[in-house]
Amino acid sequence: MKILLLGSGGREHALAWKIAQSKKCEKLYIAPGNAGTENCGENVAIGVNEFDKLKDFAIERQIDMVVVGPEDPLVNGIYDTFKDDSRTERIAIIGPSKAGAVLEGSKDFAKAFMQRHHIPTAAYKTFDSTSLAEGLAFLETLKAPYVLKADGLAAGKGVLILPTLEEAKKELREMLGGLFGNASARVVVEEFLSGIECSVFVLTDGEHYKILPEAKDYKRIGEHDTGLNTGGMGSVSPVPFATAEWMQKVENRIIRPTVEGLKTERIDYKGFIFFGLINVDGDPMVIEYNCRMGDPETESVMLRLKSDIVDLFEGVDQGDLDQRPIAFDERAAVCVMLVSGGYPEKYVKGYEISGLEKVEDSVVFHSGTAVKDGSIVTSGGRVIAVSSYGKDKEEALRKSFTEAAKIDFQDKYYRRDIGQDL
Ligand code: AMP
Ligand code: GLY
Repeated sequence: MKILLLGSGGREHALAWKIAQSKKCEKLYIAPGNAGTENCGENVAIGVNEFDKLKDFAIERQIDMVVVGPEDPLVNGIYDTFKDDSRTERIAIIGPSKAGAVLEGSKDFAKAFMQRHHIPTAAYKTFDSTSLAEGLAFLETLKAPYVLKADGLAAGKGVLILPTLEEAKKELREMLGGLFGNASARVVVEEFLSGIECSVFVLTDGEHYKILPEAKDYKRIGEHDTGLNTGGMGSVSPVPFATAEWMQKVENRIIRPTVEGLKTERIDYKGFIFFGLINVDGDPMVIEYNCRMGDPETESVMLRLKSDIVDLFEGVDQGDLDQRPIAFDERAAVCVMLVSGGYPEKYVKGYEISGLEKVEDSVVFHSGTAVKDGSIVTSGGRVIAVSSYGKDKEEALRKSFTEAAKIDFQDKYYRRDIGQDL
């Protein structure tokens, strides 16, 4: 099979690494890819939202399957664009239709969907500029801290958690006044939930589903969860509190009602569903849906997937996912993210990365890297994901930290406390 993978981060390098191991993969292209994905296939200089160019490329190279890494092209309707064109309709697209991607693209839609299907989530109300007064009044009925969410995609920055009512009211006014542009034209105000978070991933063909290994990610820049939110500083799989009993609750109360809800609402969904969950006194609740895999969760989850991922993808496309075997590696897997100094605020790009060839005991996934004059250089905030196996997470973390020390670039930073809270 000829496969085109879209994206350019650590998630896509991990997916490319896994796809390239498949006997069913004859040729892998990555658009646009990064300096690491080049070792798994051929990078193509086309952006993930350049649908016409992607279609032309897919036709010319006789692509059989497109695997979509990030949410943006999904929310923009790449699935529908390919399916509505007789030249590309036969191509398998791994990722939901535009209507399905709204689960991530609109927080208000996701919350209403969960209410319709009795899926446990925080109580909420949605407001726009015409209902600001009601929004302010609703805030007064809640207890601190206050959670405000821009309805639309806001590059991971659209969720604000405010300690006081005064700040919450001020931010609600600012968000509805255009703080995040059109993304905050509507704002979801919701009850604060207290607990530990866990990311659960499902692959679905719209009818059946397979649950992938769960993972925990570390979002804050500083150790012990301090400082600004980032795209993710590391991940650990499995998650100790995600016992068989807890996962059964997740499946019964959240996963199955979600897949069935999509089906009864006739929403075409063939791809990953990412359930951002929180464990509230032993009960899982949904914080958010995403229509794609997590980053940096993928960089540990792919290590634990033993089965042929292309076979699973084929099942997603053909609607016989239930017939495809899935097996997991019993070992733990972790990922430690090396980032540019200054990230998630201002940082410098273009520093040379050295020591990659010295890594022995980990799998290195590139996140923000590029090739410049024959050298590998930094080209993003998150630069390299150092992923390792271990008999337990402690052993895996020891390996990742040992190998992380061998890789160098100016102002390199990483969290040394990944996995310590579990
Ligand atoms: P999201 O972009 O929806 O993942 O939200 C970003 C982060 O905000 C989540 O990972 C949580 O840590 C936090 N968060 C979102 N909603 C809530 C909530 N209702 N209660 C507590 N924390 C939340
Ligand atoms: N790791 C969280 C995300 O990918 O959104």
